Amino acid sequence: MELKEKVISTFADRFGGEGTLYASAGRINLIGEHTDYNGGFVFPGAIDKVIMADIRPNGTDKVRVYSIDINDYAEFGLNEADAPEASWARYIFGVCREILKRGGKVEGFDATFAGDVPLGAGLSSSAALESCFAFALNDLFNNNSIDKFELARIGQSTEHNYCGVNCGIMDQFASVMGKKDNLMRLDCRSMEFEYFPFKPEDHKLVLIDSRVKHELADSPYNKRRASCERVAKRLGIETLRDADMAMLDAVKTDITAEDYFRAKFVIEEKDRVLKVCDALVAGDYDTVGRCMYETHAGLSKDYEVSCEELDFLNDVAKECGVTGSRIMGGGFGGCTINLVKNELIPSFIETAKTRFNEKYGHEPKVYEVIISDGAHKITE
Ligand code: GLA
Repeated sequence: MELKEKVISTFADRFGGEGTLYASAGRINLIGEHTDYNGGFVFPGAIDKVIMADIRPNGTDKVRVYSIDINDYAEFGLNEADAPEASWARYIFGVCREILKRGGKVEGFDATFAGDVPLGAGLSSSAALESCFAFALNDLFNNNSIDKFELARIGQSTEHNYCGVNCGIMDQFASVMGKKDNLMRLDCRSMEFEYFPFKPEDHKLVLIDSRVKHELADSPYNKRRASCERVAKRLGIETLRDADMAMLDAVKTDITAEDYFRAKFVIEEKDRVLKVCDALVAGDYDTVGRCMYETHAGLSKDYEVSCEELDFLNDVAKECGVTGSRIMGGGFGGCTINLVKNELIPSFIETAKTRFNEKYGHEPKVYEVIISDGAHKITE
């Protein structure tokens, strides 16, 4: 059954009648990894994989919500003490609480939701869920008075305060603000952003999912962030956005080798984003691709958020002559993002599947993604 029909018919079965339908997207990031919480640049876009929810106020002070994909139901109140047990429901509870904390309005509602953003693949299914509900509750209870950046921040604060991930703003920003056929360069210090048309004629983005589980709450993601903050503090600056290699080298002996390499990656990565944006405007995909490979090497060796399977996929991409390839998102599993010439796509996918299967005993999943719109309302 199509996603939309599934969400609507489950709503009718569970709660009777119909609600209003909303969706928000997963995201890719062409370049700029682990730069968001360092005040740097990121370059994401929303994709054609979404979380969709059917929602209707129920006139009570209780939220009743059914997750179709997980086949689980949760019911909770809207006070801080009412936090549900199930981790999927905490994303929705968190969004409600963060709206209320900001003086917004949320009352009881019924909802069903499902999605086609693969879970744990680094495509930000959790940001899509948060953004979908933040967007919907803004429409249903707040007359759309909360601006879109604040909706993204509501999702981010949900991660911090209810899900244990000290994430940056990139995923929620991309999920809320995404625009069809456009990537967005976001300056995470000033929060200024610019749309960059992205519809290459002779390349496509192919994601290869190692299916190595990626769970940021259990990962050393927060530790990476802490390393960066320690180095910034030592340098007497607010974030690594204001650091360069000369500054870092000057304190090299005062910090651990590990912190040094973490900061080195971030400093190099923030410059790469700008280089890639320029190259994209010039249609210079070779430079874009080269930078992607550099990012992978940095994420693997200096930032140490890759894993054997993703390094292997990166090597296979290189051998196949793929223009650019790298691990994408927080790391510790998930996907590589590959910028592939059209004529190479079938043979690359075939080779990656076969070689990976030979080595690890299972085939990776493959997704071709299209850059699409972010959070939106589907029915009136
Ligand atoms: C995760 C986080 C983002 C960002 C990326 C790494 O996706 O949620 O805020 O830090 O990792 O770039």
